[in-house]
Amino acid sequence: MPAPPDLTPLFQWYADHARDLPWRRPETTPWGVLVSEVMLQQTPVNRVLPAWHAWMERWPTPADLAGDTEAEAIRMWHRLGYPRRALRLHQCARALTERHDGAIPRDVGALLALPGIGAYTARAVAAFAYRQRQPVVDTNVRRVVARVVDGRPDGGATTAPGDLAAAERLLPDEPEQAARLSVAIMELGALVCTARNPDCGACPLSALCAWRASGRDLPEGPTRRPQRYAGTDRQVRGLIMAVLRDGAGPVDQDRIDVVWYDDAQRSRALACLVADGLAVRLHGDRYALPGANNSGAYH
Ligand code: ADE
Repeated sequence: MPAPPDLTPLFQWYADHARDLPWRRPETTPWGVLVSEVMLQQTPVNRVLPAWHAWMERWPTPADLAGDTEAEAIRMWHRLGYPRRALRLHQCARALTERHDGAIPRDVGALLALPGIGAYTARAVAAFAYRQRQPVVDTNVRRVVARVVDGRPDGGATTAPGDLAAAERLLPDEPEQAARLSVAIMELGALVCTARNPDCGACPLSALCAWRASGRDLPEGPTRRPQRYAGTDRQVRGLIMAVLRDGAGPVDQDRIDVVWYDDAQRSRALACLVADGLAVRLHGDRYALPGANNSGAYH
């Protein structure tokens, strides 16, 4: 196997160009890093920033969140989207208080055993909070590695088993350096080596990039169709969740019925929220967020 390219020019670029994001500051707790990574997985940075600050102010430790209800976690999630993440973070906080005395474990295996923590988040916490040498592979990192190392335009549609190993080969041996390089690769993918408009002139790795050397062909047509939101079940679920969040307590079915005209789609969305544990059906055709004082819930 050829020697991996030397990515150390990225260090200077990161020092000069990285965004000053609060979860990257040294004083941020491992809990703050974990919360940021869960929020950032499906939501852009600019929308995560205010939500992260509000969350950390209200629940500065896992024990603080574990002592509150799921309903409050969902309310605080507000419009970040994919609200199951709020439920999972709440379950994670409870597991942390029960199994780890309210601390965040350092070990990737122990992190992976927590509810809602997958391969990406476990390694992101180990690298960014605990400064370990761990490959942290999100879409941006997959794209940068595919281009620089393999000369491909992107990392392919799905995560491949070799992605972690390919990213790990690029990391320096020293853990702190490895952690810094991991976040620098991610930042390069977010700011310069983007999917559609890569700015190779501004890239510190352009001289050694296999994709640039091969003429940087982008796939024909749009790389990915923008996801439609209007009219989808996801939109209807969002509308119903807004009613449940805004209600001080349980809400009547009538209040839900007015959010969407299509009965079948609305019923499907509501059933999905109940199945996911984001809504609870109560006696008398009323609905509420989970974990509030819902006496009379159907089980
Ligand atoms: N810094 C650390 N993790 C990050 C992420 N997931 N997105 C953006 N910046 C980050």
